[in-house]
Amino acid sequence: FTATWDIEAAEKGGYPHFMLKEIHEQPKALVNTLSPRMVDGIPDFGIKALSDDILKSFKRIYIVACGTAMHAGMVGKAAIEHLVRIPVEVDVASEFRYRNPILSKEDDLVIIISQSGETADTLAALRLAKDQGVHTLAIVNVVGSSIAREANSVLYTWAGPEIAVASTKAYSVQVAMMYLFAIQLAHVKEMISVDQTKILCAELMEIPQLVERVLETADNCQFYASKFQNAHDIFFIGRGLDYALSLEGSLKLKEISYIHSDAHPAGELKHGTISLITEEMPVIAVATQTALMEKMVSNIKEVITRGAKVLLLCKTGQDEMDQLTDYVIELPKCNDFFTPLLAVVPLQLFAYYTAVLRGCDVDKPRNLAKSVTVE
Ligand code: AGP
Repeated sequence: FTATWDIEAAEKGGYPHFMLKEIHEQPKALVNTLSPRMVDGIPDFGIKALSDDILKSFKRIYIVACGTAMHAGMVGKAAIEHLVRIPVEVDVASEFRYRNPILSKEDDLVIIISQSGETADTLAALRLAKDQGVHTLAIVNVVGSSIAREANSVLYTWAGPEIAVASTKAYSVQVAMMYLFAIQLAHVKEMISVDQTKILCAELMEIPQLVERVLETADNCQFYASKFQNAHDIFFIGRGLDYALSLEGSLKLKEISYIHSDAHPAGELKHGTISLITEEMPVIAVATQTALMEKMVSNIKEVITRGAKVLLLCKTGQDEMDQLTDYVIELPKCNDFFTPLLAVVPLQLFAYYTAVLRGCDVDKPRNLAKSVTVE
């Protein structure tokens, strides 16, 4: 008897790489993470240590994480500040732990985000906050991991095992959890009415289906990857939530395709970066936020005038945008507030196909480990 398959191939479930499989698992991961925390259309985490009274007491939040988890935290900051109107700081764990942060055990909450729950700097940041008596809430994917065990409260993301070094589905569920937490906090602090809470939750619960539709842009992403695969550098630009997302798109691309890439707030270009824009510098413009549309149109025109080829990621029906460039990936309509959950998918697919076309080891990029347990 000769086995004609191997265990790894079986685990990939028919996909050529774990990363592609995990990208496609995102709708299910989102449902698994969100559904159990929804009771009568309102978020309910069921955590005793985080009672409504304790939630109400927080006046400032720190979000601490590394890499992709930190990028999820940036979306979380925007969501909490928008709905709850309390200040949120996002820190890279390796900076937080050595910068002697100013923490108050009466007023502050430290949110720790980690897929593995074992990242050395993130764990050290958690311990630092705990030592100072500050409540720590961990958003973690791996059950029973060190961070999950040591934090005062835990919210598990139910993404299932993530094998590819490049984090994809873990990011989406972290972002979804941040939205849910922001809605819950706003509800408890009475910053939004019960009706508003229910509307936001209903919109959030529609996201997994919309992600299914975004996954249908895969061929388009592959086509654009073939156009950009030989670039030496690629810039990502965006404003607000789209900037937070650009950072993640850029990290994904450089991590697995080895193309140098940076993300810039679009309004910052003229303060230096624009000198690098030539016909040799493709730009990926993320423009999903209606309130910032006009500003993005002018930033995109600025780089096109300097010869850049622009791949635009925007929502469907943005006619003024569409006409700026031939390279467009359109997202279905949804509340601007939640678009990062849709827009990240084409960025992941673009990075994936670019890496495949360049012959890179997509699931195990050089010099990287899935879990960084050393400093
Ligand atoms: C993402 O694609 C990376 N591989 C990396 O940035 C990762 O998100 C980071 O190391 C944090 O890991 P954690 O979520 O397991 O703490």
